[in-house]
Amino acid sequence: MAKNSTFSLLVVLFFFSLLSLSSLCFAQQHNYMDALRKSLLFFEGQRSGKLPADQRLRWRRDSALRDGHSVGRDLTGGYYDAGDNIKFGFPMAFSVTLLSWSVIDFGRNMRGELSHALKTVRWGTDYLLKATAEVPNVMYVQVGDPYSDHNCWERPEDMDTSRSVYAIDRNHPGSDVAGETAAALAAASIVFRSRDRAYSRLLLSRAVKVFEFADKYRGAYSSSLKRAVCPFYCDNNGYQDELLWGAAWLHKATRRRRYREYIVRNEVILRAGDTINEFGWDNKHAGINVLISKEVLMGRAEDLRSFKNNADDFICSVIPGVAHPQVQYSPGGLIFKAGGSNMQHVTSLSFLLLAYSNYLSHSNHQVPCGGIVASSALLKQFAKRQVNYILGDNPIRMSYMVGYGPRYPQRIHHRGSSLPSVHVHPAHIGCKAGSRYFLSPNPNPNKLVGAVVGGPNVTDAFPDSRPYFQESEPTTYINAPLVGLLAYFSAHP
Ligand SMILES: *[C@@H]1O[C@H](CO)[C@@H](O)[C@H](O)[C@H]1NC(C)=O
Repeated sequence: MAKNSTFSLLVVLFFFSLLSLSSLCFAQQHNYMDALRKSLLFFEGQRSGKLPADQRLRWRRDSALRDGHSVGRDLTGGYYDAGDNIKFGFPMAFSVTLLSWSVIDFGRNMRGELSHALKTVRWGTDYLLKATAEVPNVMYVQVGDPYSDHNCWERPEDMDTSRSVYAIDRNHPGSDVAGETAAALAAASIVFRSRDRAYSRLLLSRAVKVFEFADKYRGAYSSSLKRAVCPFYCDNNGYQDELLWGAAWLHKATRRRRYREYIVRNEVILRAGDTINEFGWDNKHAGINVLISKEVLMGRAEDLRSFKNNADDFICSVIPGVAHPQVQYSPGGLIFKAGGSNMQHVTSLSFLLLAYSNYLSHSNHQVPCGGIVASSALLKQFAKRQVNYILGDNPIRMSYMVGYGPRYPQRIHHRGSSLPSVHVHPAHIGCKAGSRYFLSPNPNPNKLVGAVVGGPNVTDAFPDSRPYFQESEPTTYINAPLVGLLAYFSAHP
């Protein structure tokens, strides 16, 4: 036992000396505030619907102005999830939850960017309010047929593919997407509490309703909407985590006892401790445990102590050098998980480490991980190392954020960015006429400033090629947690 921990201590020391060596090699001073500004601009490029007068990303125009028409509703607005033109409700809600969490924990570090961050949240919640206006009768969870969309390479402004509207209801439940949407609305209600009381109250009362609907009519949305949501945003992980996640955010937003009792009562039934080293649009477990741990660390919730234990286990499973590492690292030090769009794991796991680090330091705690102790400072250093990797401190000195640093991806897998803008080329470019832009070796004509792509493969290599969508496609849920990370490091470089 003693031998083992000495060994793991040596491994850790070795690893961190490698990290500091490598940061010596690639180190540069980063302008986190500039990166924060750009990470928010990216969301303007993902906007669907009628663009506002203060739109700063100017090569985009209005799009999808008839969304919802087929069901007699206005479902315009919201965000395209990635490099295509579909509005997928499940990852959109997750992105709004993480943007809100970024503002709640790190808004005070955002200075001049705070107003932009608030608009970014609101663009999402305005849409989620439309999508949930008729709950519990019906909730709209997606606009656009993904097969018809993915078969074309078209600008959103030209879109002539099928804008089918997909919904859940009592007989076709979706506790996953509804639970996540309740979380997003509740989190955003905290964001706007002191800034726009009426809007905040509307968000919260809607969150309560949507959560009730999610909990009462239980099921996975991919059962009834399989063809529309799988394999894109299939609920592989089950809907139980979104119910706990929704309840956790409602508890934070309302402080009502019923949500706390719900969490305690359902902890085991809804498997709070499962698959702890993941956090993303499908799997909320690590996020639930970190979020609830804050209450425990503040001494406000002894009955929720098991969540803190789960969060500690999560921390120990992510940091390098522990006895049984559950997360892989590239030789250059980047968190790596198989399955594509790796940066989503990098930003969301780093966000949790940073948030937890703050909760620990406010309560003077640290996490024992076998032979090593994960202090608040160590977690911050670790999260910062991941952020710096994204911004260019890596073996090929590539910034993975478009428009940041001297070298960044030029051929991102993104329809609007890779086709000539409407401004330059007003004539319609049809479904298949776009293919030549997709296949072209030339850089994209429109810079989607702030977009962070899926990133390098496990050997730190990056092809910078449009067809390699797992590496070259940006998504809203890569950027959403990054907003919080960049805000923090801009104030604590
Ligand atoms: C990583 O990417 C590089 C360059 O695109 C490629 O040559 C290499 O085979 C890839 N490695 C793996 C393990 O995918």
